[in-house]
Amino acid sequence: MHPEPYRIKVVEAIHLLSPELREARLQDAHFNLFKVIAKHVYIDLLTDSGTGSQSDTQWAGIVRGDESYAGSRSYIRFEAAVKSLFGYKNVIAVHQGRAAEHLLFGTLIKADMIIPSNTHFDTTRANIEALGARAVDIPTPEAADINDPFQFKGNIDLKALEKLLSKEGAHVPFVMMTITNNSVGGQPASMANIKALHELARRYDTPVYFDAARFAENCYFIKSREKAYAEVSLIDIARELFSLGDGCVVSLKKDGLANMGGVVALNSDAVAEEVRNRAILYEGYVTYGGMSGRDLEAAAAGMEEVLNFEYLRHRVAQVGYLGKGLEKIGIPTVKPWGGHAVSVDAGKLLPHIRPENFPGHALVVELYREGGIRCVEIGSLMFGHGDNAPPLELVRLAIPRRVYTQSHLDYVIEVFGRVYKNRHRIKGLEITKQAPFLRHFTAELREIDSKAEAVGV
Ligand code: F0G
Repeated sequence: MHPEPYRIKVVEAIHLLSPELREARLQDAHFNLFKVIAKHVYIDLLTDSGTGSQSDTQWAGIVRGDESYAGSRSYIRFEAAVKSLFGYKNVIAVHQGRAAEHLLFGTLIKADMIIPSNTHFDTTRANIEALGARAVDIPTPEAADINDPFQFKGNIDLKALEKLLSKEGAHVPFVMMTITNNSVGGQPASMANIKALHELARRYDTPVYFDAARFAENCYFIKSREKAYAEVSLIDIARELFSLGDGCVVSLKKDGLANMGGVVALNSDAVAEEVRNRAILYEGYVTYGGMSGRDLEAAAAGMEEVLNFEYLRHRVAQVGYLGKGLEKIGIPTVKPWGGHAVSVDAGKLLPHIRPENFPGHALVVELYREGGIRCVEIGSLMFGHGDNAPPLELVRLAIPRRVYTQSHLDYVIEVFGRVYKNRHRIKGLEITKQAPFLRHFTAELREIDSKAEAVGV
């Protein structure tokens, strides 16, 4: 693997608490890692959102930020960066991705409409459902099998989409395409799939919008996996990809390389006008949209940097390095490894813990206990309540951008090795207190005795 394509100019100390203190922090937090303060975490793999390091160019922009209320120089720079990258005519700045969803969806979606997607991210789904509409996931069938090596598991199922459009097209205001597809493990969509989506949607006169939080990683996967694009530059891939849609909502906290920020960009002037009016109501005047001048500068510089080939090659290789390292020591992972995260199949790793005792969350707790590592469960604790079908029991190890080095990842693999050895002794948990929705953020839990030895795994 090529080494990190950057050198480190600013450092932030991290510290591993003693085993006793880690145990105490777990108890204090009622076994919910969202309640552990960041200072008590050694390696934080909770999310890649807003957690990246800023480059020297971004920091320079931060100092230059123009904080004028109207017509800020930083907004003009931001708008130019968005237009150059995404190619859409209208740009509306917002403070983060879900704000972009809120503004665009409030403009386009009415109750009882249907919005299909390769897979909606949680906030997209919630913003659609809050308007009384239906969010429908139609990922490519390969995405359902976590061992299927298919290289574009982020594709949308075009057959299912055509069926839906031919039956209920009148109720579909647009199709949403998430790149990369976070909910199935950061998997990319191919240009071929997006082209075919464009043609199909045109036939039904239905716009296509991208949820482009991780567009750069998706473009890199297109370049490295789709033969026709091997020699095409990443910026040309991005421009071609976005030309196949009508607009996008973007959380700039991921591939915008920013700590905060978002944008709606789109071609239709009529839709843009309404989104702008809503932006003034909910986000702020149109030349800052919930962001400070320094945020706008950092995001503009981030958009200019993120399609650097060496950066993306390293980013994707780093995720793969962690995936391979875990696989080597017997940890079952979702394959192929994604653009921003490795997902571990805790259901398979801890078969002695029943879904109602949260095997994924049990692994999350054990990784903190063993090595001060923080990550998140995507399984029964997050989704398995109400009428939901039992989900896969996954644990996501998301890698912040330009933050950790290979030796940090070696440490994570080493901790996994110790956890693996003692996996039979890992205990399930039960909830002692929970909120009626999005319970994983605030739930309190306690450990219960498991029947591991009896099962003999
Ligand atoms: N779309 C996708 C695909 C996302 O992954 C996220 C956030 C959003 C939209 C919402 O953006 O947080 O800026 O409001 N994902 C984060 C994560 C939270 O950890 O995966 P936001």
